[in-house]
Amino acid sequence: MALLEVDDVVVKFGGVTAVNHATFTADSGVITGLIGPNGAGKTTCFNVISGLQRPTSGRVRFTGRSVTRWPVHRRAKHGVGRTFQRLEAFGSLTVRDNVRVAADIQGGPLAWLRPDLGSGRSGRLAIEALLDRVGIAEYADERADSIPTGTARLLELARALACDPKLLLLDEPSSGLDETETDAFGDLLKDLASEGCAILMVEHDMDLVMAVCDEIHVLDFGTIIASGDPAEIRNDPAVQRAYLGYAEVEDDTSVMEAIS
Ligand SMILES: Nc1ncnc2c1ncn2[C@@H]1O[C@H](COP(=O)(O)OP(=O)(O)OP(=O)(O)O)[C@@H](O)[C@H]1O
Ligand SMILES: [Mg+2]
Repeated sequence: MALLEVDDVVVKFGGVTAVNHATFTADSGVITGLIGPNGAGKTTCFNVISGLQRPTSGRVRFTGRSVTRWPVHRRAKHGVGRTFQRLEAFGSLTVRDNVRVAADIQGGPLAWLRPDLGSGRSGRLAIEALLDRVGIAEYADERADSIPTGTARLLELARALACDPKLLLLDEPSSGLDETETDAFGDLLKDLASEGCAILMVEHDMDLVMAVCDEIHVLDFGTIIASGDPAEIRNDPAVQRAYLGYAEVEDDTSVMEAIS
């Protein structure tokens, strides 16, 4: 049993089938990529997993329990963390306070059970350590609406990590990061996975996807058209067709080369 099981999920918006019988898993200690062209249904899958979107049919299981009907906050409490494609930080708060708010929300009335995330000294130190870990400590006192986009992406990650997720859903986390920041980000993802976190990532940067993902699922028009490790995905003709929009692809043309 995987930590997250998406089972035969369908999402229809009127006449549009955004997700079409998608089945895939994500597991602890594993970095899983969910890729596909624009409009393929990736963010909609994330919304179904995090609870923002009720599927038309199908099920979501997390830690072996059916969570299909659970609201967002209950899933978050049980360890589903996410970042958003559109940045969602509180603009008028500092970077540090944005992370603190996320930790407070997670702690809620039971915060005293988790002194490492509370507002006491150990909680404050944990927040500083988290800012340092994602590489944004120097921005701690800046307002969130004044920081560069790449830094704001890392703030999103820090806010998600403050909730101590078992599963981390990352929606295009590297957009806005430069090459050096992206490399550091990839290393951080590998560290988080090695600590047992399950990471499910939607990402258009194929170099990053191919470098860090253990397993990749490819969505096209809502349907999973391929699943496998990076080498399998790179050489899959259906994947190459989906990205290129036509079938005549040289045998040795990789997805990475084709879409870069
Ligand atoms: N709330 C909605 N109402 C109607 N249609 C929607 C809604 N959300 C998404 N869609 C449609 O569902 C399809 C999948 O959208 P989705 O945002 O999941 O794609 P995506 O793979 O995340 O794309 P991108 O790479 O551009 O972020 C698209 O055709 C989109 O227009
Ligand atoms: Mg999207």
